Amino acid sequence: MPAKQATLHIEKLVKTFAAGNQRIQALRGLSMQAEQGDFIAIMGPSGSGKSTLLHCIAGLCQADAGKIYLDGKLLANNNDRQMSALRRRKIGVIFQSFNLLPNLNIGDNICLPLYADGKKVERDKLHSLVERLGIADKLKRRPASLSGGEQQRAAIARALLCEPSLILADEPTGSLDSIAGNQFCELLRRLCEEEKRSILLVTHEPAVAVWAKKVLVLHDGQQVGELELPEQMPAAELAAAYSKMIA
Ligand SMILES: Nc1ncnc2c1ncn2[C@@H]1O[C@H](COP(=O)(O)OP(=O)(O)O)[C@@H](O)[C@H]1O
Ligand SMILES: [Mg+2]
Repeated sequence: MPAKQATLHIEKLVKTFAAGNQRIQALRGLSMQAEQGDFIAIMGPSGSGKSTLLHCIAGLCQADAGKIYLDGKLLANNNDRQMSALRRRKIGVIFQSFNLLPNLNIGDNICLPLYADGKKVERDKLHSLVERLGIADKLKRRPASLSGGEQQRAAIARALLCEPSLILADEPTGSLDSIAGNQFCELLRRLCEEEKRSILLVTHEPAVAVWAKKVLVLHDGQQVGELELPEQMPAAELAAAYSKMIA
């Protein structure tokens, strides 16, 4: 059973994919935990299982074995409808693809998960969020008329508006320039420090990972290292430590 205060508790997660007559073990018994207010960066070479891990947590992919607890609740015990409701309320997902609906304006795209839950949108909250993300003047626009970075920020706002206890982000700064990328990392850091949200951030960029409090390193579907990060760790120092772990 997970510790009482853990937002996320994962035990021995296994996921195997079949590709032709090959079997690919994407996750090989991975265990990890995130407490409330943790900000964990997950690093690892391409193919090490980072996205699979986030997909399993988000329920976008079913693990073959292992357990995932969210706020003390075993996720596998929920049926699909309950699971998607739980995810909408408790997990904010920011993936590389923005998945914005082309026929809705940005404001409606951001509010969609709340509408789906029959909840009212608190206008003040929405406005302070889009203000912080620099897209306050884009709410009436369709996604196609925004730049990639702006669409990404809309997807970020959509994930954050329901104030999830767990935020999952897979290479979220990939399409942002370095200033916007830094602003995004700063926002994540504030969400963990001021609002005690738990964050799992997959990235291959040391300059992004240094914003986290801890780094988990994956290799071949297993954790091969863990680093507690001091405040203001230089990215080059993290890059050097990371290289040693995957060597
Ligand atoms: N849907 C899938 N079908 C077959 N193989 C997959 C699928 N998704 C991921 N894999 C494989 O699982 C391994 C882990 O992938 P992934 O989790 O995407 O790694 P990462 O995000 O660390 O790059 C890789 O070898 C990848 O090719
Ligand atoms: Mg990936």
